Amino acid sequence: MAQDSGNATIDLVTVNRWTHIWHNVQLATMAEQNPAPYGAIENAAIAVEGDRIAWLGAAADLPTDHRATLHDGQGLWITPGLIDCHTHLVYGGNRSQEFELRLTGVSYDEIARRGGGIVATVDATRKASEESLYQSAAKRLSSFLNEGVTGIEIKSGYGLDRDTELKMLKVARRLGDEKPVDVATTFLGAHALPPEYTDKDAYIDWVADTMIPDVVKKGHADAVDVFCEGIAFNTDQCERIFKAATEHGLSIKAHVEQLSNLGGAALAASYGAISVDHLEYLDAAGVEAIKKSGTVAVLLPGAFYFLRETQLPPVDRLRSAQVPIAIASDANPGSSPTCSLLLMLNMACTLFRLTPEESLRGVTRHAAQALGWEKRLGTLEVGKQADFVLWDVSSPGELSYAIGANPCVDVIKNGRIVSR
Ligand code: NIG
Ligand code: FE
Repeated sequence: MAQDSGNATIDLVTVNRWTHIWHNVQLATMAEQNPAPYGAIENAAIAVEGDRIAWLGAAADLPTDHRATLHDGQGLWITPGLIDCHTHLVYGGNRSQEFELRLTGVSYDEIARRGGGIVATVDATRKASEESLYQSAAKRLSSFLNEGVTGIEIKSGYGLDRDTELKMLKVARRLGDEKPVDVATTFLGAHALPPEYTDKDAYIDWVADTMIPDVVKKGHADAVDVFCEGIAFNTDQCERIFKAATEHGLSIKAHVEQLSNLGGAALAASYGAISVDHLEYLDAAGVEAIKKSGTVAVLLPGAFYFLRETQLPPVDRLRSAQVPIAIASDANPGSSPTCSLLLMLNMACTLFRLTPEESLRGVTRHAAQALGWEKRLGTLEVGKQADFVLWDVSSPGELSYAIGANPCVDVIKNGRIVSR
């Protein structure tokens, strides 16, 4: 390129390579350095070059010497593509019968004792073919994509044997290859004790010593996760998993302090976890620990709602410690059978008293951080991946306000318009 030819030439070359421009739009950039609410720029324009954001700012400042395709945004709001940083999207069957049973007064525990709960989904997932798992997950995924989701995390954890765990992770990777969405995969071998084991320590040994190296060798997972809870695995067992993950270069995430406080968040933080999730029973020491480690606190209002929990996560404490808070769907057949991230925005506000701006940050900038994607995704900034959504709303807060509405008009993924 014409490095020596003066600025005008360089600008011209750069500008001419823009591929698309949206003008007459309002931008909720969610960028940290923009102090306006939602990092907003009103009467704005945004330009894309290939798969990157090349320029954004006030429409009045938009350079005119370009050959990009112009799109009139008709005053619509644009946000970064939404990111769901915690899902169990791939599974066999569903648990609607369990839901009906619970409504007759049978408890979650009793259902598990009768062979229901997570183990029922494990059974259905083991029996499902890879293709049928792909098709059922793709159907659920399309609901998320229709609502402006451009990035999603998908966990294993309903296989709990070698073949089924690998099958789930392969399906998750294939979704990322074939659909217009970035997929982060997480190996959740330590989700529950599979029926063929009676000894939790022996199972954890197998997950840590055999499965983690295998999953890493195959490149199937980006992170590891555990369910640290009385009904699942204790802190010693989770630590075995964190050590193996660290040894093999996997990021760490953890389901912690959902039903009780075991100190799982502080433990995960001591291993540099990128996120700790659920957190209803997180105490002051836990908040302090995750603040120090820079771990994202992922709140899951769908599970809180569906299990009719009453213990609220310590939102005020997280806020005053300035811990980044993300919001996710926890989409799964047992505790959060939802395919709507927009609904989670509303629930985060109504149930957890987050502000609409905090909620939106929770499914954009902070969700990206919870997946280690923050350099590439989560905000509208020059150089970042051109993933964004046009919304028919009069303010970004409307995304959290509405219940069951879908104001998504267009989704731009990697700089390309993907039809809804
Ligand atoms: O994130 N907490 C653990 N696992 C899931 C629920 C799994 C199920 O019930 O199938 C969750 O809520
Ligand atoms: Fe979960």
